[in-house]
Amino acid sequence: MLYQLAQSAPMQRVQLLEWEQRGVDLQIWRLDQLDVAAPGNKLFKLDANLRGARAAGYSRVLSFGGAFSNHIHALALTGAAQGFSTVGIIRGEADAANNPTLSDAVAAGMQLHFVDRSSYRMLSKLRHGDDLGAALGAQFVDCYVIPEGGANDLGVIGCKVLGAALANTAHADAQIVLPCATGTTLAGLVAGLNNANTVLGVAVLKGAESMAATVRTTLNSIDAHHCTRWSIDTAHHGGGYARMSADLEQFIANFQQQTRIPIEPVYSGKMLYAIHRRIERDDFERGTRLIALHTGGLQGMRGFGYRKTQQMNKAGFSHSVLRVG
Ligand SMILES: Cc1ncc(COP(=O)(O)O)c(C=O)c1O
Repeated sequence: MLYQLAQSAPMQRVQLLEWEQRGVDLQIWRLDQLDVAAPGNKLFKLDANLRGARAAGYSRVLSFGGAFSNHIHALALTGAAQGFSTVGIIRGEADAANNPTLSDAVAAGMQLHFVDRSSYRMLSKLRHGDDLGAALGAQFVDCYVIPEGGANDLGVIGCKVLGAALANTAHADAQIVLPCATGTTLAGLVAGLNNANTVLGVAVLKGAESMAATVRTTLNSIDAHHCTRWSIDTAHHGGGYARMSADLEQFIANFQQQTRIPIEPVYSGKMLYAIHRRIERDDFERGTRLIALHTGGLQGMRGFGYRKTQQMNKAGFSHSVLRVG
């Protein structure tokens, strides 16, 4: 079922003049276009986790995230679509409940619980409802806990489907590229490809040098240590998570104008800009075929407009002068 879903994501060739001139052929695998409540990679990370919850007899699932988290958004929508009630432990102030991400989550029935940064650090390490109950109150005891970002072995196993689907369809020479935060999606993709294609992850966080070791440990734990055709580019984080430089903003505007494919600056935009910079540097030989995963996250775009509005409101500007979203 998940495999058929992965196969239903369109593969779209992108023709940017500079890339063609340097002999690089790029296709985008449009996971953002999947016909599900929350498209992108998140569904794959959540699938085995939600199955695990059901198999263990839970009807209530809980996870952790920031105020604009794609993971929280996807859990709220996917969980509701699969008949679960959901709880989000959110790092931040309660007024964030009005932002577009969390408004959607609440509309899908998610119960939100806001905590400060240091409580969040402690709570997000907990893996059992009993422990959360002891820390926060009895109402959390009956929850099945999914870690922040869906980053666990079940998340990896769900993402194997992505690799298996690509192994059957991608040209044998194609290099697969994707944005990485925890490396969970990359680990699953690599395991599912089973060495059929090489994979390049683009780390979207600064200081991600340890991600490769984490991925190796994960591959060992799911018996996929023999899958070795992958690497992680840690040089194109662009200053850190969710940072958008003027150059990145300009690149995204040009890309969207030329291709009509919507992207966002945190994941897909940063990955494509990394590819662009590498093409400019002649990192890829002529004739290279790339398949870039569009992992979704477009819902998060609304957060950029929202934050701008909040900041300008604080600075005393009126709503009417702003364009949001
Ligand atoms: C849209 C999007 N793409 C990519 C990623 C990176 O996934 P991972 O944490 O599995 O590396 C995430 C998750 O954080 C995401 O929300």
